[in-house]
Amino acid sequence: MSIGRHNDRLHVEQCPVDALAERYGTPLYVYSRAHIEAAWRAYDDAFADRDHLVCYAVKANGSLAILQLLARLGSGFDIVSGGELERVLQAGGDPRRTVFSGVGKTVAEIERALEVGILAFNVESEAELERIDAVATRHGVTAPVSIRVNPDVDARTHPYISTGLRENKFGIDIHDAEAVYARAAAMPGLRVTGLDFHIGSQLTELEPLADALSRSLGLLDRLAAQGVQIEHLDIGGGLGIRYQDETPPTPAALADAIRPLLAGRSQRLLMEPGRALVGEAGLLVTRVEYLKPGHRDFAIVDAAMTDLLRPALYDAWQRIETVTPGNAEPRRYDIVGPVCETADVLGRDRALALEPDALLAVHGAGAYGFVMASQYNARPRPAEVLVDGDQAHLIREREALADLWRGEHLLDRP
Ligand code: LLP
Repeated sequence: MSIGRHNDRLHVEQCPVDALAERYGTPLYVYSRAHIEAAWRAYDDAFADRDHLVCYAVKANGSLAILQLLARLGSGFDIVSGGELERVLQAGGDPRRTVFSGVGKTVAEIERALEVGILAFNVESEAELERIDAVATRHGVTAPVSIRVNPDVDARTHPYISTGLRENKFGIDIHDAEAVYARAAAMPGLRVTGLDFHIGSQLTELEPLADALSRSLGLLDRLAAQGVQIEHLDIGGGLGIRYQDETPPTPAALADAIRPLLAGRSQRLLMEPGRALVGEAGLLVTRVEYLKPGHRDFAIVDAAMTDLLRPALYDAWQRIETVTPGNAEPRRYDIVGPVCETADVLGRDRALALEPDALLAVHGAGAYGFVMASQYNARPRPAEVLVDGDQAHLIREREALADLWRGEHLLDRP
């Protein structure tokens, strides 16, 4: 186990978390290298019996050192912006293993992706197809495109992270997709290579995914009948992690569930996991500033919704524990940050034995943690450390105060 207690002291691999907090300060993100690598390999191994590519969803955690680890394993990447593309390149990732998702690709982003030669654009609308065709034609190249269909299945997850229903903004209605493929095939700047879907995130059941796949395979067959050959099938990301008592399916269970559906089909399989690779590999470490007893008992800590937004934004529950044992009596605390918002909560009603200055660790913070951090209330964003055995590497420095106004200009006239 890469994150756990030894002699009642929380460790990430062989590093005691309290020592990391002393050395690097708090709030602090800490990740386990071994955990990330094992999670990626589990995904890769699960699909070893067919041609496949695991494309890590950069949005879950785009820190360069983490992308570098994954690139070294041979990972592909799923990006949603020109910024994420440059991050992948900076980290040594391979553009030819990179797919570009997202509903709002700009001309400049499309040009750059064509220039570096990505694997495919996951196209989300007809207007986007036209734009990519025009840009590619202007530059005298052909753009590889995969059409993201909206399979109209209920992913049975939080509505904010559900994307595969007809009323969501994502993808092209599967019922219209044949006509859209026919149009795409006729555009001179495009080469139709794929079919893809992504139905939502933090999935705890496989049935909606299998359902979306069957519907997509039906479409694939209708396309084949019209002479449109699809080279790759991209099933998106979405496998959940254990925040509380969920029992999310493993990548092996996913592979087993879809194997019969894919029997006899030769398409290369792509997937875009984010959370499942990095979520459980990370902690947010924070220190208690004040204990404030009263009608509710509050523990005011030095991390806030600006560092970890999920509890405030989605009412998400993430496990919180003390880093070292204390002598205090356990009480039920609301763990809140210093930001001037009632929503600034990391966890409500948690039974914890807290002393002033206690260190707390919030679990499941490796995905959609730092990437969603902001500087609201003029708070510098936290540092990030990657643990590798008994070594800790500072992979991102804590922001300095001067970073808060970098690029700003005072008025130069009275
Ligand atoms: N592919 C596409 C096209 C996506 O939109 C997403 C996530 C993924 C892959 C990766 O999904 P994952 O394997 O991580 O579930 N901030 C929210 C999650 C938003 C997910 C958005 N799309 C949260 O903190 O729960």
